[in-house]
Amino acid sequence: MKLRPLIFKSEIKNQKSKMLAHIVTLPGDGIGPDVTNEAVRVLKHIAEKFGHHFTFEAHRIGGNAIDETGGALPDETLRACLNADAVLLGAVGGPKWDNPLTTRHALSPGERRDESSSKTRPEDGLLAIRKGMGLYANLRPVKTHPALAFASPLREEKIRGVDFVVVRELTGGLYFGKPKERRETNGHVSAVDTMEYHDYEIRRIMDLGFKLANARQKKLASVDKANVLASSRLWREIATEVGADYPEVKLDHVLVDTAAMRLVTAPASFDVIVTENTFGDILTDEAAVLVGSMGLLPSASLGEGTRGLYEPIHGSAPDIAGKGIANPLGSILSAAMLLRHSLKLENEAAAIERAVDQMLTEGCRSADLAREGERVLRTSEMTEEVLKRVGSFQ
Ligand code: IPM
Ligand code: MG
Repeated sequence: MKLRPLIFKSEIKNQKSKMLAHIVTLPGDGIGPDVTNEAVRVLKHIAEKFGHHFTFEAHRIGGNAIDETGGALPDETLRACLNADAVLLGAVGGPKWDNPLTTRHALSPGERRDESSSKTRPEDGLLAIRKGMGLYANLRPVKTHPALAFASPLREEKIRGVDFVVVRELTGGLYFGKPKERRETNGHVSAVDTMEYHDYEIRRIMDLGFKLANARQKKLASVDKANVLASSRLWREIATEVGADYPEVKLDHVLVDTAAMRLVTAPASFDVIVTENTFGDILTDEAAVLVGSMGLLPSASLGEGTRGLYEPIHGSAPDIAGKGIANPLGSILSAAMLLRHSLKLENEAAAIERAVDQMLTEGCRSADLAREGERVLRTSEMTEEVLKRVGSFQ
């Protein structure tokens, strides 16, 4: 569905363009539905305040989709996402589906299990939707909030001023390379994954990283393992090549082990980090805890065009699902990214971010953020604190 900006006569004077957008939600498993509901409340509030019209349509993904349809990403879900202006995802996975045996049919007498296939896991749905929507770039902004410095595992002076974005390649590398299989030879079992990158895959993610860096502090760290991996040597070559088009951006090649170390010794030295899929997965969990709680961080997965998928970085946390105590801010901030990147509604995105900033400064705390003796807000109360403030940033 195309975005249709509508201009009402009465508003032509102040040039406000009204947006009509169709958003697919994929609440998923565990606390996914808890937090997605809250982000939808915020989006509805924004639509009302700023005069837009958003429609919502929920679909299955992950464990609940496996239970219902046998597959982690039903065709209908992918189709709906391809037809939407943007997709908001909660989280997938949980212990119920962790053992792939539990999601497979019982064996008939004499039947042998093919270990290389039919292991449907909730995570497969996530990988399939990233690939199916062509979302090759995953943006994970990491920023410390002064009021939450106490929650970081690092000393306060170390995390002061941390404000960087990890741009993780999302549809290549070990996650998707072929061959990817188990083998049996001479009575031994082996398994293989393939780290393959094409020049065009590296070029497009680098280009995005440089554009981003150009609009920020003009520092780009390209993270690889070029001292060992052939794919990383190509990565480094293309990074240098693309860098030539952005002479104002300072390009640093950083080995992934060094990057992991620098994230804890000097996290404030980073501006934009661009890296391949697996390194990005690992480094972003490390980066996420720097700011105190995984519950706070949003992400955007983007491809060509404006369509994108937005999700909090945290997982499905099945132990607290449905209890109304999850922190909805990661999802709410993901909705802000959705407004910015897919709907091009920068003011609306900024209004949410500033409301969140303010409520944290003023001491609103969900269970994951609260210290001894502090009042703990429930999931829905956290949202209400956002709603209360959004209007003042209009
Ligand atoms: C992430 C997650 C996923 C990934 C899992 C759930 C497949 O860890 O988004 O970082 O590895 O990409
Ligand atoms: Mg991860």
